[in-house]
Amino acid sequence: MKANVTVNKSFVIDKIDKRIYGSFIEHLGRAVYNGIYQPEHESADDMGFRQDVLELVKELDVPAVRYPGGNFVSGYNWEDGIGDKSKRPRKIDLAWHSIEPNEVGIHEFAEWAKRANTDVIMAVNLGTRGADEARALVEYCNCNTDTYYANLRRENGRDKPFSYKTWCLGNEMDGPWQIGHKTAEEYGRLAHETAKIMKWVDPGIELVACGSSNYNMATFGEWEYTVLSHCYNEVEYISMHQYYSNADNDAANFLARSVHMDAFIKSVAAICDAVKAKKHSKKTINLSFDEWNIWYHGNGPKFTPLTVGSPLFQEIYNFEDALLVGSMLITLQNNCDRVKIACMAQLVNVLAPIITENDGGAWAQTIYYPYLLSSLNGRGRTLKSVVDCETYTSKDKFTVPYLDVSVVENDERRELVVFAVNRSLDEEMEISLEIGGYEGAKIISHTEIYADDLKCENSAEAQNVAPRDVEITEDAVRYNTVTLKKHSWNMIKLTY
Ligand code: AHR
Repeated sequence: MKANVTVNKSFVIDKIDKRIYGSFIEHLGRAVYNGIYQPEHESADDMGFRQDVLELVKELDVPAVRYPGGNFVSGYNWEDGIGDKSKRPRKIDLAWHSIEPNEVGIHEFAEWAKRANTDVIMAVNLGTRGADEARALVEYCNCNTDTYYANLRRENGRDKPFSYKTWCLGNEMDGPWQIGHKTAEEYGRLAHETAKIMKWVDPGIELVACGSSNYNMATFGEWEYTVLSHCYNEVEYISMHQYYSNADNDAANFLARSVHMDAFIKSVAAICDAVKAKKHSKKTINLSFDEWNIWYHGNGPKFTPLTVGSPLFQEIYNFEDALLVGSMLITLQNNCDRVKIACMAQLVNVLAPIITENDGGAWAQTIYYPYLLSSLNGRGRTLKSVVDCETYTSKDKFTVPYLDVSVVENDERRELVVFAVNRSLDEEMEISLEIGGYEGAKIISHTEIYADDLKCENSAEAQNVAPRDVEITEDAVRYNTVTLKKHSWNMIKLTY
């Protein structure tokens, strides 16, 4: 199979906001307790954080982590997680039917984020709580004033504010499973009032309103339109969440899910722009795709006995999952004009690229690698790719190009980075790169992620799915052509 990709220096989609390589840690399962935090583990540091996990997270260069939920946040009292640890309450977490010991709270997570070299995207509880607690939390985290909550932070050992910039106004408030589920009217009004006073406390923050929990929600579309009709002027982003499944074991259809993701992004952007038009507004609302991943391998029972840090949603990902994750990252890069934040959900143990053993080490799942290489190399500006290749039709009638591609210009490094997935399950693909406006651009490296077996997994013992370098032929350099294996993820670098 042959494919042609044409790009030109003049045709730029936008600068990539590095936060599209963000992630998510929720108080859920073994994400926090027995994940990032395990004081009795041999690698634990002075604060009980596992250093083996920190090392894997730091390698990813995650720019921001959304915290503390997720569904968890809708029942969470942030005040339970501050002050003397020995006096903090143990509470029932109704979102995940677990026990929350509150050993990790605002200060501990801030310190973990510092050690992981990442920023925090903080979420407020709009399920059981409201505007008052949210504005108190903004004061606690961000204010330098001689006032109650800022002084409480100082008493708890932190003089300088945490200065969190980005805040989520609740989580999945459209979902009947959510603690404090609301109608679009109810949530839109609450988001408006909460946003208003959070920004009165700190005018420097930016806010994310809840969009739909996924594309298939019966209220999708109407929800976004109604919510934004209420809080358009107060927020900067609307959230999107989507998890894909291969439960029917159809690889071609599964690899087409990123085309669905692309359409979903464009639909939500269109709804934002419809509200903009209706309001005669000059402001554009951008998208925070703050939960995305694959979720179907081991849904498991939701209601386990009440415990701290028991395994929940600990998906073991395979090679075809890594291909789709690679494609989803390509989709985010190609939509960087509207998607400014995206969080792979989640980071450790729960739906995660990193798995920890309670009595052993931490290891990288298959999906860790496309995330790693996209995060490290996909910084700069995305160019518009014009792709000429064969297509197929997905079950839900999308036209799916066999080649999924993005081209990112990193001017600092004088590099063009081509991220490419060959979706063909049985044919290799020769791609020809037509590069305009970059004098003498030539291929310098080709890295691939490939396994013969789509179901191949990694484990604590074996990294079966991992990147490797592909030898560059003379023809590749002379003609800017490269061959992609069947069902493979690739990163091709050109210098100019
Ligand atoms: O990421 C796991 C859960 O999925 C989150 O808590 C929730 O927001 C979503 O439904």
